[in-house]
Amino acid sequence: MEHTLSPCTLIIFGSTGDLSRVKLMPALYHLEAAGRLPESCRIVATGRRPWDRERWLNEMRGMLEGQVRGPIEPAILERLEARQDYFRGDITEPEMYTALAQWLGERNDLPDNLAIYLAIRPAEFGVVTENLSRTGLLTEDGGWRRVVIEKPFGYDLESAQALQRRLSRFLNEEQIYRIDHYLGKEMVRNLLVFRFANLMLEPLWNRNYIDHVQITQAETLGVGTRAAYYDGAGALRDMLQSHLMQLFTLVAMEPPASMAAEDLRDEKVKVLKSVRPITPGAVHAQAFRAQYGPGVINGERVRGYLEEADVPPDSVTETYAAMKLYVDNWRWRGVPFYLRTGKRMAEGTSHIMIRFNQPPQQLFRGTQVQNVERNWLVIGVQPSECISMQLTAKQPGLEMKTRQVALNAGLSPTEGSGTGAYEGLLLDIMEGDRSLFLRYDEVEYAWRIVDAVLKTWSVERDFIHTYPAGGWGPDESRRLFEKEIDAWRHSKEP
Ligand code: BG6
Repeated sequence: MEHTLSPCTLIIFGSTGDLSRVKLMPALYHLEAAGRLPESCRIVATGRRPWDRERWLNEMRGMLEGQVRGPIEPAILERLEARQDYFRGDITEPEMYTALAQWLGERNDLPDNLAIYLAIRPAEFGVVTENLSRTGLLTEDGGWRRVVIEKPFGYDLESAQALQRRLSRFLNEEQIYRIDHYLGKEMVRNLLVFRFANLMLEPLWNRNYIDHVQITQAETLGVGTRAAYYDGAGALRDMLQSHLMQLFTLVAMEPPASMAAEDLRDEKVKVLKSVRPITPGAVHAQAFRAQYGPGVINGERVRGYLEEADVPPDSVTETYAAMKLYVDNWRWRGVPFYLRTGKRMAEGTSHIMIRFNQPPQQLFRGTQVQNVERNWLVIGVQPSECISMQLTAKQPGLEMKTRQVALNAGLSPTEGSGTGAYEGLLLDIMEGDRSLFLRYDEVEYAWRIVDAVLKTWSVERDFIHTYPAGGWGPDESRRLFEKEIDAWRHSKEP
């Protein structure tokens, strides 16, 4: 797979917003520091504020403070600043696009290839794309045009289809880069290498040896200042339909024909298509929701969801969502995949835990070894990246007792050398590598999986389970487990 890093102009819509502030600008700084931005790459920040270039650069410097890894290096900052321009305009006004097109046309120092990053509200994706198209900004006559959007892609199956119909009037699928930032995380990229560059796992990676799979994303943060968006979305849309579903496809997919974008995405779609549909009658058996109440996080008392700013007092929006999925194919039939996500949980952690079956014979029955623990494979995504194979071994000594030991590969980079999810993804956009971006059918099938759950939850508005902030979610969610002895596993340690 050859990808070329051609010179390009990166135009950021919504450059003063949160995404740009917290993710994009710091990522661009790190790419600059690593010498990975093409020499002629230019960045055009657009925004409504009546600023000039100097004022924007001042703002941008503020964005980097506290966000970049390590101290800001003046020489790197200077190089990054030299690439930037500020274009003032209101995305809701059609004149902005005419003026932008004209301005770009007059600037002969900007590369013709345009990567247009819509760091704006999803509700505006359609109208902005339409305006870009109307003014010829999406026409690929001098160079390529790529438009980057970030989840949520729609609100449910129907709205995702409507958004797609609208976008596809102005863009080819090849021009749309749908970001799921989990796919940019180091360990998520590593998952593909781990699965497909090693022989030892593949023979075990199926229903004959795997009992079940747990995928967890937990964070200690609450809804913060995002209730205006979050209360209408909830954890199922915000995290599970997108990020967790991506982790799930990477664990469950077949080896692709090649690592080329379409081959990879074909396999991910096949997994989603093979998920057993959740019928309305099965929603309660396969999905669980809850909302955080007041509690204690890191020794400090925190408010419950209903007391957070801008949350309606009678909201039943879930801040915790869990689901059980079955993949009805040869590899996975009968193996439950348990997915869960929650805000205000005991710990900020994302991990995948794979539990293996019991050995076929209990050879140590007559000894003090009562019950041989099953093997687990633990894949830590964050905060620390690790792969840990957890096995049973004999305790040293004269007696036949066992203990759990872990073969650990700690993969976290040394301080300061790691990369954030957006760095790799920004380079991929410039290189035209779409393998870690979502194709539309992935989005659609992911919505199909959760659709019945969304519909049921949206009408059942009288009751929602609660859990104290700082805990691991309500015990009742254990009802998703097939076997009574099974439960969520929180700790990565054996
Ligand atoms: C975002 C969600 O997509 O992912 C947030 O909208 C969530 O609600 C965030 O906090 C989690 O991302 P990360 O990278 O911090 O695990």
